[in-house]
Amino acid sequence: MTAAPDVVTGRHVLLVVSGGIAAYKAASLARALLRGGATVQALLTPAAATFIGPATFEGLTGRTVPTDVFSDSDHVPHIHLARQADVAVFAPATANLIAKLAVGIADDLVTSTALMLDCPVVIAPAMHTEMWRHDVTQANIATLRHRGAHIVGPDDGPLAAGDTGEGRLADEDAIVAAVAAAIAPSTSPLTGRRVIVSAGGTREPIDPVRYIGNRSSGKMGYALARQAARRGADVDLVTAPTHLDDPVGVRLHRVETAEQMRTTIMDLVADAEVVIKAAAVADFRPARYSGQKIKKDSDELTRIELVRNRDILAELGENKDGRLLVGFAAETDLAEDHARDKLHRKGLDLIVVNRVDMADAGFNVDTNRAVLLRAEGGRREVPLTTKDQLAAVVCDEVEELLAQR
Ligand code: PMT
Repeated sequence: MTAAPDVVTGRHVLLVVSGGIAAYKAASLARALLRGGATVQALLTPAAATFIGPATFEGLTGRTVPTDVFSDSDHVPHIHLARQADVAVFAPATANLIAKLAVGIADDLVTSTALMLDCPVVIAPAMHTEMWRHDVTQANIATLRHRGAHIVGPDDGPLAAGDTGEGRLADEDAIVAAVAAAIAPSTSPLTGRRVIVSAGGTREPIDPVRYIGNRSSGKMGYALARQAARRGADVDLVTAPTHLDDPVGVRLHRVETAEQMRTTIMDLVADAEVVIKAAAVADFRPARYSGQKIKKDSDELTRIELVRNRDILAELGENKDGRLLVGFAAETDLAEDHARDKLHRKGLDLIVVNRVDMADAGFNVDTNRAVLLRAEGGRREVPLTTKDQLAAVVCDEVEELLAQR
């Protein structure tokens, strides 16, 4: 089976690091981009190299970090580096580097390469608040934005020298998401949209040891989150416990119970334009939670009273507010009548009916079989395929539905 297409799979990223205290975070960013499927070429300003050495990036990326415009007359480095890049990300970008980029100074390898770039550019500024708010920096940022650069951050938070304020490098996931959005096909209606994806199987605790759960691994939901992020969506992944690696380029919200999943989704939903609910949410929870482990010879375990959990999707359907809602139906046959009923009852735009009774579909496998039903009557059958490919089909449908609006 081919590897899962991740947010930046197959893309060549030029990672330019400039000299601020946040330079150390660029090593972790390089790893996240690699985990997201990219090849990464790092490039350091001389000041960055005083904070973090080229050897760190060479070890992580497996690529030499060139330092000098004149180091290789056969492959003039700045020309070669710029032409190789599918996307360039400047992180952290200091006020000095931003100023040079804005006016086109090309006095070293980094700035000469920058002037050669003919690909999307992402800039993640990091500096002290006063420098960020300075009119000159703001004017330079406006110039770069006007020229098409994607600016991510800065955030509020701790800065150098014990200060706190605006100027902190954006989170790694936000930068990876900005990179994915910058290279996403500009035609995708998902680009720039807030999308919530739910994944995994909720756990309803009985006592500190036991819970009622289900067999969902989270694979379907994670594949959807990656696929939406790859198309430039701004993704919140609300996930019940899984054994999967954290996906890059999405905001991860970990929950355990159906009620926690509900609260988290309701907190996020005001900003969301699309919700895709692949999670297997427990329909019931124990009426009482025992703070102590229940003894196995106690009668308490022979009869556990259950109460019904609220249906998150139905609640979202009652207050749609123009939002596009996609549900999943876990069925032991492709019970389309039953699923169509759920589609209308929960106010969905699309439902993905998938088999959960076959060895190659449903829970905890990499493949799935499904039928997609649209509220207005469309039907699309997806025979045995990978969950990544099914996620791509679901996102195609979502794009079509968004484009029709
Ligand atoms: O995680 P994997 O191992 O990859 O498996 C994927 C999957 C089989 C879990 C997934 O493809 C799937 O089918 N998810 C939905 C499972 C499910 O709960 O189906 P349902 O028919 O019970 O619920 C219908 C829809 O209502 C679902 O979108 C569900 O998220 C939602 N729901 C259900 C109950 C509830 N209290 N709140 C909800 O929002």
